[in-house]
Amino acid sequence: MADDHGDRIAQFIARMTTALGPKGVSTDPVEIEPHIQDWRGRWKGSTPLLVKPASTEEVSAAMTLCAEYGLAVNPQGGNSGMVNGSVPEGEVLISLKRMNKVREVDVLNDAMTLEAGVILTKAQEIADQHERLFPLSLGAQGVAMVGGLISTNAGGVGVLRYGMMRDLVLGIEAVLPDGRVWNGLRGLRKDNTGYDLKHLFIGAEGTLGVVTAATLKLFPKPAVKETAWATVASPQKAVELLQLAKKASGGAVTSFEIVPKLGLELVLKHIPDTRDPLPTALPWRVLIELSLPRIDGAREIMEGMLGEALESEIIADVAICESEAQKAMCWKIRENIAVAEKAHGKALKHDVSVPVSRVAEFIERGTALAHQMQPGADVIAFGHVGDGNIHFNITPPAGADQDRFVEQDGLPMSKAVHDLIASLNGSISAEHGIGRLKRDELAWRKSAVEMDMMRAVKRALDPDGRMNPGRVL
Ligand code: MLT
Ligand code: ZN
Repeated sequence: MADDHGDRIAQFIARMTTALGPKGVSTDPVEIEPHIQDWRGRWKGSTPLLVKPASTEEVSAAMTLCAEYGLAVNPQGGNSGMVNGSVPEGEVLISLKRMNKVREVDVLNDAMTLEAGVILTKAQEIADQHERLFPLSLGAQGVAMVGGLISTNAGGVGVLRYGMMRDLVLGIEAVLPDGRVWNGLRGLRKDNTGYDLKHLFIGAEGTLGVVTAATLKLFPKPAVKETAWATVASPQKAVELLQLAKKASGGAVTSFEIVPKLGLELVLKHIPDTRDPLPTALPWRVLIELSLPRIDGAREIMEGMLGEALESEIIADVAICESEAQKAMCWKIRENIAVAEKAHGKALKHDVSVPVSRVAEFIERGTALAHQMQPGADVIAFGHVGDGNIHFNITPPAGADQDRFVEQDGLPMSKAVHDLIASLNGSISAEHGIGRLKRDELAWRKSAVEMDMMRAVKRALDPDGRMNPGRVL
């Protein structure tokens, strides 16, 4: 029996090698290694074969073969996910990294069509070369790829102005589990021709098919970005500042991020060449970015808004970035909180959202809850106040067994945090997705009717359940 299985896999690998050529497959453990563990080092999996198609036709050929052999498939982009969705658990691993062509930039249509393996920083550069902006921006942008960003409906630090990946996609091309190719690469802003199928694949985490290319929206490049780092006494003050900034800038706030004292301290400790832009004993900082169409008057808008905030005691102090280096330092601090937190040790992570009007209440009540349930634990609540998405992470008390904390002892606290989120009409996964990590919880938190509809979609597109099994559903 075991030998039969081994023979079948060997035959499958031989046929895949013939179909895609030697460059298109690998069984080399050294090459496979980074593909079978997540970047935080929390999950490690396995795969019988790494498949590296270089074109949609090759993805189709690979998927057809997997279907013939009844083998499950794990599609992978930059493998920078947070919820154990992209690490294979014995499935055939299809990496999109060789599919990195720019198919078209249609400047007059403000759109570009990129293959799934294009890295986000590259996508931003392509837009920039055409005097346009591709606004998705997040910590993992140096590794995250278009296909993965679509499959996880990535968020990041520009969502309050430009939306999530779902809002940035005009069309997609995907290969279905049976190998058929769906070309939905339409560059249309208006297209009311029945169900909008692309939305099924956006945020599906590879459970319905493999996204191979996408037509993405481009935006005017702002003439100037004004960046400031303000200190505030509480999350409530941060939310008040957000309202003021939106009003005073005519909706030009592109990022609005909250940084807690402990998060900043961890960055200063673990990330080389970082320094505090505005030392203070206050517990919170806010990073604000305005994107403006004209250099003239831009600084005045920022200064006027911050002056009003100081006068009405919404903020305690503020530093406006005077140079690109100062802006880069503020962003380096913000983008490295998760990295510094990882260097600090393991943490219970919650990627939650509530209506912006309830962010402050959530942070206050969540923090009190964590301290009450686990004295000595620290809360690091940071992130995207501007769109109501807080990363609410809890580190174990000093000396506690970290593995035991994240896998066992801390779990009642996680449930309590998510219960609080449910009571505030929030989401238990704002931007990181479900993966394997939150799959079981999703099933009981969502209504039966919602789960039934999701399962029906899955059955319709992937009747054999071979696409990224065990993730999401
Ligand atoms: C972030 O906003 O920094 C990321 O989503 C990472 C995290 O939640 O840890
Ligand atoms: Zn985030």
